[in-house]
Amino acid sequence: MLDLNPGPGDLDPVETASTDELRALQLDRLRWSVRHAYDNVARYRRSFDERGVHPDDITSLDDLATLPFTTKADLRENYPFGMFAVPREQVVRVHASSGTTGRPTVVGYTREDLDVWADVVARSIRAAGGRAGHVLHNAYGYGLFTGGLGAHAGAEKLGCTVVPVSGGMTERQVQLIQDFRPDIIMATPSYVLSIIEEMQRQGIDPRSTSLKVGIFGAEPWTNDMRREVEQRLDMHAVDIYGLSEVIGPGVASECVETKDGLHIWEDHFYPEVIDPVTGAVLPDGEEGELVFTSLTKRAMPVIRYRTRDLTRLLPGTARSVRRMEKITGRTDDMIILRGVNLFPTQIEELILGVPALSPHFQCVLTRPGTLDALTVVVERRESAAAGVAADAGAHLRTLVKNSIGVSVDVDVVEPAAIERSVGKMKRIVDKRPRR
Ligand code: DLL
Repeated sequence: MLDLNPGPGDLDPVETASTDELRALQLDRLRWSVRHAYDNVARYRRSFDERGVHPDDITSLDDLATLPFTTKADLRENYPFGMFAVPREQVVRVHASSGTTGRPTVVGYTREDLDVWADVVARSIRAAGGRAGHVLHNAYGYGLFTGGLGAHAGAEKLGCTVVPVSGGMTERQVQLIQDFRPDIIMATPSYVLSIIEEMQRQGIDPRSTSLKVGIFGAEPWTNDMRREVEQRLDMHAVDIYGLSEVIGPGVASECVETKDGLHIWEDHFYPEVIDPVTGAVLPDGEEGELVFTSLTKRAMPVIRYRTRDLTRLLPGTARSVRRMEKITGRTDDMIILRGVNLFPTQIEELILGVPALSPHFQCVLTRPGTLDALTVVVERRESAAAGVAADAGAHLRTLVKNSIGVSVDVDVVEPAAIERSVGKMKRIVDKRPRR
């Protein structure tokens, strides 16, 4: 059975700390982290000096807003190890993101950093209902991506029996789920859909497996997708968030008892939400770009790192730390169509409201004349007849027009026509000519 509510000893002290206690801890740690970055990383020293700010000026958490932002470009410019704040010999692990263009971004960890990372992932798995002794099937990719090894270390630290399958070889994933009877699965939400399909292909009822909870992240997914996966696998599904630059998975995570947004592990990662255009800090509750400052990281501290992810900060509920709402999308994934902004997650929500359409879709951008056009390519469900599916496509067009306010084309394709991913799904296919 899955423990839906944490028992005594299942929560770290910070998960029930008072706001005053938490803010005092954060201020202490913030002052250390800013000083550590300034003293040891040329990029921070230079940008603080240019701005005329100094670590000694940080006397309250609000003072953080006076410091300059850090972006992915800063990491690229200091490739590979220029953002490290400790001698390279103390860095016991690196990870890197491939990046679609140019140099990858590299991140590093000391032994202490790896411990903190395992702690926050263990806390995240516990919030999802995971306990020592559970079998955990880890289908996040192992390697330079932080998902596989990050989830792995946290699950081991919690005391789970980890099955380190990584992503891919979906047939084998299904066999291992049947044979090892895991309680928990960790994967991207789009990959878990492929695993479900493979179960069906093998004649296995996905609702009959031993799985009790899925911990899904690394890409945006909606509450409608949660319902889809929960229903098809007869289990709970919770969201886990993170990014390599801040540590990897385990920056924030949902708990299974409330599923009301992700609890931010604020004792290690201090969140702000800013206006993506002006950079001004927004009050809690307003949507904007999420920015993180690491409070304890040694090898690669980040000060005001702009994630490009859009969300809002909300007060604590089942944990005293603040929550963030599910990510709407990345600023780079915002489609601007004839002056209207839209995100693939909005399309996902609408698709999942149409019974004949499956959750497999892509947004294809073209420029047939002078204006951009968007075609939503979506697979019909196996259970839907071709005729019904065509009507469903017309229906989706109307839904998009009515709720987002822009005309798109909808192309309903056959099941399995869209390429499956084993990790992050590519939702936007940009076929516009380069300017
Ligand atoms: O995706 C870390 C991770 C691994 C998180 C496994 C959760 C599970 P990166 O490859 O550096 O790291 O990509 C980070 O992925 O800025 C978001 O845009 C997106 N992302 C991560 N988690 C979520 C989520 C990992 N739960 C980028 N919801 C982030 C929406 C997410 N987007």
